[in-house]
Amino acid sequence: MSPTIRQRRLRTTPAMRNLVRETRVHPAQLVLPVFVRDGLSEPAPVGSLPGVVQHTLDSLRREASRAVEAGLGGIMLFGVPLETDKDATGSVGERPDGILNRGIEAVRAEVGDSLVVMSDTCLDEFTDHGHCGVLDAAGGVDNDATVDAYVRLAVSQAEAGAHVVGPSGMMDGQVLAIREGLDAAGHPDVAILAYAAKYASAFFGPFREAVGSSLTGNRRAYQQDPANRREGLREAMLDLAEGADIVMVKPASHYLDVLADVATASDVPVAAYQVSGEYAMIEAAAANGWINREAAVTEAVTCIARAGADILLTYWALELADWLDAAPTTKPLRRASRRGNR
Ligand code: PBG
Repeated sequence: MSPTIRQRRLRTTPAMRNLVRETRVHPAQLVLPVFVRDGLSEPAPVGSLPGVVQHTLDSLRREASRAVEAGLGGIMLFGVPLETDKDATGSVGERPDGILNRGIEAVRAEVGDSLVVMSDTCLDEFTDHGHCGVLDAAGGVDNDATVDAYVRLAVSQAEAGAHVVGPSGMMDGQVLAIREGLDAAGHPDVAILAYAAKYASAFFGPFREAVGSSLTGNRRAYQQDPANRREGLREAMLDLAEGADIVMVKPASHYLDVLADVATASDVPVAAYQVSGEYAMIEAAAANGWINREAAVTEAVTCIARAGADILLTYWALELADWLDAAPTTKPLRRASRRGNR
């Protein structure tokens, strides 16, 4: 009655498990999201994201060179302006002396081309009402006027030195308009990472603290309903048709079905954003001793890659690169006992 098919044969030793592992995460596919805040004299911790800080321009530069040393693929910049610089149209975003553009410039001066420098192309950090766009007379977000503002913002970011712009506002037609705007302004080589399927998620909560968001309502009239899977694929296909160079699904862990759909259909690289709430949940549980931090982080990230992400945005990128470095695959050979170490 003993089975001839024994799946456990391939699970017997670390070396065997290593040999048959289907998914490996490499530092080169990780992107570190960072916050740079105007008027800071020292880095300021973000309470809801333990271990994450709002950077000064100086500490941002140092973080960027750490990212290069760790072999990361990229860095994604978010700007936090002075409260007094916010207005209804988020105009400080596109100013060359605005904090995000100064941050991009500082990072490029530090890392050159050794790291892919990406920037958030959205207005929510810069508007006094906290929405991702400009408002119409009725108080809704005006799609087409917002897209015009995104084009100016993207061009200003390209001028500051961004290799990649990341429109995250979920306005219709934003990718095509930005592509045409960048090309017309002489930036045909600046790539677009489209936040293609982005859901109106409760898991963005800690991020709103990180950027000092002024939002009081919600984003359900432009970000997607978490209940919709087919729509996520359609959003990605539209962004591909508009010329997106990379398409992203966000959040990651609770949207692996959408990610898998997009990864199957896409003919460009697919990214996933492990968002602030995903980070905060694991950190909080680990801080309580309820979960093994390193194991939980590694598992979560591996599963996002397994579902089809080629590129992963994660606040753990630097630490992960360290862990991956120390992982068995790259460990130097050591004499092992004949019985092996299981
Ligand atoms: C919008 C933007 C958000 C995030 C990234 N870009 C917030 C939002 O849509 O409300 C969230 C990222 C995170 O939660 O880690 N500029």
